[in-house]
Amino acid sequence: MKILVTGGLGFIGSHTCVELAKQNHEVIIVDNLYNSKEEVIDKLKQITGKSFKLYKYDLVEKEKIEEIFESNEIDAVIHFAGYKAVGESVKKPLMYYSNNLQSTINLLEVMQKYDVKKLVFSSSATVYGDPGNPKYVEEMGRGKTTNPYGTTKAMIEQILEDLYASDNSWDISILRYFNPVGAHESGLIGEEPNGIPNNLMPYVMKVAARKLEVLSIFGNDYPTVDGTGVRDFIHVVDLAKGHVCALDKMKKGLNIYNLGSGKGVSVMELVTTFEKVNDIKVNYKIVERRPGDLPEYYADPSKALNELGWKTEKTLEDICRDSWNYEKNNM
Ligand code: UFG
Repeated sequence: MKILVTGGLGFIGSHTCVELAKQNHEVIIVDNLYNSKEEVIDKLKQITGKSFKLYKYDLVEKEKIEEIFESNEIDAVIHFAGYKAVGESVKKPLMYYSNNLQSTINLLEVMQKYDVKKLVFSSSATVYGDPGNPKYVEEMGRGKTTNPYGTTKAMIEQILEDLYASDNSWDISILRYFNPVGAHESGLIGEEPNGIPNNLMPYVMKVAARKLEVLSIFGNDYPTVDGTGVRDFIHVVDLAKGHVCALDKMKKGLNIYNLGSGKGVSVMELVTTFEKVNDIKVNYKIVERRPGDLPEYYADPSKALNELGWKTEKTLEDICRDSWNYEKNNM
């Protein structure tokens, strides 16, 4: 199939482009380079030996999207593009609502116009809010989100549901990611957050690389296995493969899938595994809980297994090794 990947040079997008190309899909990327680098396209070619068409366009400019659909016979779209920093979204809510919603609506309108009605959407476990049970199942539905970034994901899910209700010739898969980490084993592509990272794994790597002094572990008095927060960390290559399955095994209608390992891992366990696998010290200190954090949650990934034949294959050790390999290659 000929697939348009929005945000295809970003962290999850780039790994998905690799897996799509490996399955012989033809990949067209649109990316405005807001949070990604153009050189990623060369890395994608290096990894796969295939070529990728790149449009350096912003989805906010609708006529640019039309141009892409006018000049390519697109079969389906995987939509990653969007602002994604939780903290920044709290400070700049209008920027988040305006960009994430407008770009998605533009994309959907153009898809409708060109009768391309197959979509995979990049959503997040954050849309569950706090359902009161750490094991998240798709049927739980959406809860109250805790920041504008998360709210844009929940709003887009709602937009997609309304769109499908109005026209059920659409096939839409909404993928709710848990905590994506790791990097491609080649060390050529990985996560490149702008500035000081907010998320755990990128911060761990900067401390291991001696670019930041000490990791703050936010709380060790949660009711969890060792008192630190528990999350479902998923290797980005497993996640990328989930997108290919979502596309290749797409069912009719609108379907929602959790993409996670199903296993909770504590912050402390991640840090100590990182140290052990890579034989490197990560300086850390315990500090206050971070406001808004939940103690523990992880995926029930059985729907993705039953309907898409997908499950994670990589271990926490793989995650820690591949993350550090990327960081070392790019220091
Ligand atoms: N943590 C630390 N120190 C840090 C950073 C994080 O102890 O410097 C802890 C957090 O308290 C939490 C865990 O590590 O317990 C994971 O935190 P992250 O910031 O890496 O990830 P979150 O689970 O907070 O959020 C992630 C994504 C969001 C997404 C959400 C979905 O960053 O985009 O999962 O549930 F919305």
